[in-house]
Parts: sequence; structure tokens; C-alpha cells
Amino acid sequence: MNKIDTNNLPKHIGIIMDGNGRWAKTKGKLRLFGHKSGVKAVRETVEMSAQIGIKFLTLYAFSTENWSRPKSEVKSLMRLLISSINSETKTLLKNNIKLKSIGDTNLLPQDAKEQLNSSIEKTKNNNRMTLILALSYSGRWDIISAVKKIIKHKITSDKIDEQLFEQYLSTKNVPNPELLIRTSGEYRISNFLLWQSAYSEFYFTDTLWPDFRKSDLEKAIIDFQSRERRFGNTVEQKNQAC
Ligand code: FPP
Repeated sequence: MNKIDTNNLPKHIGIIMDGNGRWAKTKGKLRLFGHKSGVKAVRETVEMSAQIGIKFLTLYAFSTENWSRPKSEVKSLMRLLISSINSETKTLLKNNIKLKSIGDTNLLPQDAKEQLNSSIEKTKNNNRMTLILALSYSGRWDIISAVKKIIKHKITSDKIDEQLFEQYLSTKNVPNPELLIRTSGEYRISNFLLWQSAYSEFYFTDTLWPDFRKSDLEKAIIDFQSRERRFGNTVEQKNQAC
């Protein structure tokens, strides 16, 4: 098997972690069992990403649309989130990983907000890798929030360009993701980093999220490294630039 070229790593990887419910169903278990098992995959992915030198990892943990799931599932997911962030903070500190979040976190229950903010505060000086949890997040929410902030700051239209707009997105100062991974055999972006993924390479795998292991991440990165990224240019232009 090919090896990862550490000189050509994506700086930022985004992951749509999908398939927890289906994974649980195949085992005759409740959906929550799938989510709990998904936490193990989160741990392994974070660990591996930091080890190989990824600088930013964004995980789509809870979308704006997920609020409309059955109340009991939302409640369980929030509880799982609090306990996972609480128990993993020590590991984040030990491994020099900074925690950040993007999304409308005001909508989270008070205890979840407190746990999240406390871990963000404790890890704020870490600099090996930034783990970004997308919580109560959607790409359209991100874009609309940016527009609202721009209007609030009374910025005139002649000043608005892509660079300025990016300063108002939740991912301000975070490079756009070069690689976006989605598990569970679905081929959709589902309102993830809509603006930021304009030039991302997409990698889809049939693996259900709880089964996602280091070897799956490795495969995704090796696949990314085999792609020719032209950003709208021709092959000839790209070769000239090299
Ligand atoms: C998608 O599977 C998964 C989620 C909506 C939640 C992801 C949450 C975790 C992995 C646990 C907590 C995360 C962190 C960062 C500590 P699904 O329920 O849509 O599965 P299905 O498509 O098979 O129904």
C-alpha cells in the first residue's frame, strides 16, 4: 500500500460523520449505541490527524437540521457531547490540541455551552492542531450570519470581496478545507462548509462512522494526494506554475 506523503498533507480536513444510526441498526441496538460508538471513531481520528501533522480538523457533530430529530435523541446527543468533551479535554491538553467550535452554539443547552466553553478556554494556547466541532452548524447559517454582521458594521458594497467576506464567516483565520470526507455511502454535502468547500476535494466511503479507523483516514489522505488540483486552470497552466 502507498504511504502518506507528509510533504503534501491537506492543512485542513473536514468530516461529515454519518451512519451511526444504521450501524446500530445492523447490530439490533438503539441509535444512541451508534452515537456512543461514534465517539471512539472521533478519538481515533483526532489522534491520527495530530500524529501525521494535520493542522485543522473540522467534525460535523450536530447540524442545524439535527435539531428536528426526536427530542429524546437530541437530548441523548447533547449529553453524549458534554460527557465526551469533558472526558477528552485531558487528552487534548496532553496532545497540545486546541478546541474550537463553529455554529449557533447559543442554541445549545446551558450545561453543554458551559462544558464547551470551559474546554475551549483550557485548550486555547495549544498549537499542534485545532479541532473544530461544528455544532448547531449549517453552511447557510454561516453565510447568513456573515451577511448580518457585514450589514451591522455598515460596510459598503464597494468594500465587499471574497477576502472580506471570509473574515465574517465562523471559519475566520482557518484555511479552507482541502479534503472533505463523508462516511456511510451518502454523496451529499448536507449544508456543511458550503462557502469554504468551493475547491475542496471530496472523498466518499461506504464505511459507517463507528467503523471509521486510522486506516480509513490514511486511505482518504493517500487518495487526496493522487488528485490533480487545478483550481479552474488548465493542465498546461498548472504544469507551468510547477
Ligand atoms: C450521524 O449519524 C451522526 C450524528 C448526527 C452525530 C455525530 C456525533 C458523534 C459521533 C458523537 C459525539 C461527537 C463528538 C465530537 C464528541 P446518523 O445518526 O445520521 O446516522 P444514520 O444516517 O445512519 O441515521
